[in-house]
Amino acid sequence: MIDARDRLIIALDKPSVEEAQQVIDRVGADGAFYKIGYQLMPIGGLDLSQRLTASGKKVFLDFKFHDIGATVERGVRSVCKLGADFLTVHAEPDVLAGAVEGRADDPRLKILAVTVLTSLTQDSLTRSGITTKLEDLVLKRAEFAAEAGADGVVASAKEAAAIKSRFGDALRIVTPGVRPAGADANDQKRVVTPAAAIQAGADYLVVGRPIVDVSEPAEAARRIAAEISSAC
Ligand code: C5P
Repeated sequence: MIDARDRLIIALDKPSVEEAQQVIDRVGADGAFYKIGYQLMPIGGLDLSQRLTASGKKVFLDFKFHDIGATVERGVRSVCKLGADFLTVHAEPDVLAGAVEGRADDPRLKILAVTVLTSLTQDSLTRSGITTKLEDLVLKRAEFAAEAGADGVVASAKEAAAIKSRFGDALRIVTPGVRPAGADANDQKRVVTPAAAIQAGADYLVVGRPIVDVSEPAEAARRIAAEISSAC
């Protein structure tokens, strides 16, 4: 059973490492798991990742690797040196096989497959030449992840139940687009509450602005963890 605090991944979507560090300091013991993405990666995010893991926090590197398998493999081998916990790659068989091979010697690093970005709709898939139904594509890509030996998927709460019922505990489900009752949805299209996401089958929740952009981030993180706990 994972502790509720460890299921809450706080997205450090901040324009500088200094501002991200302020959030981390203010959240304190109420934050156990942080996500670093493109915004911080080129400006000190990798050093921040190492400082976080050295201080006992967990880190999700949301880098969504997508290249030929051999290049992904070498990239993931380098990522292993950072001591992070989660890394995203796109859910294509060659990419996944390269990633799983690349982290072979690092049991700590879990490979997560990005199934279909939540910003995409059936129309955008059609425009890209993909005729498969969006929900079927999510399951197909989750299957690629399971077959390749990846550890989990990033999926919306809407898709979590179908993934959980098909793959059970073989794939961890990491779910963004989560908003506590009363919080601003920002640009997220389909938001669900922390409890609803957990009940739908999510194992981990990714929450950014409702924690990192509010005046009391520790209190916000505590409330969400309590809601996760009550839904487990
Ligand atoms: O601020 P908010 O809670 O909306 O942040 C959600 C985080 O999850 C952001 O870092 C966003 O990039 C990420 N994410 C997402 N939807 C996806 C994949 C990642 O919102 N499908």
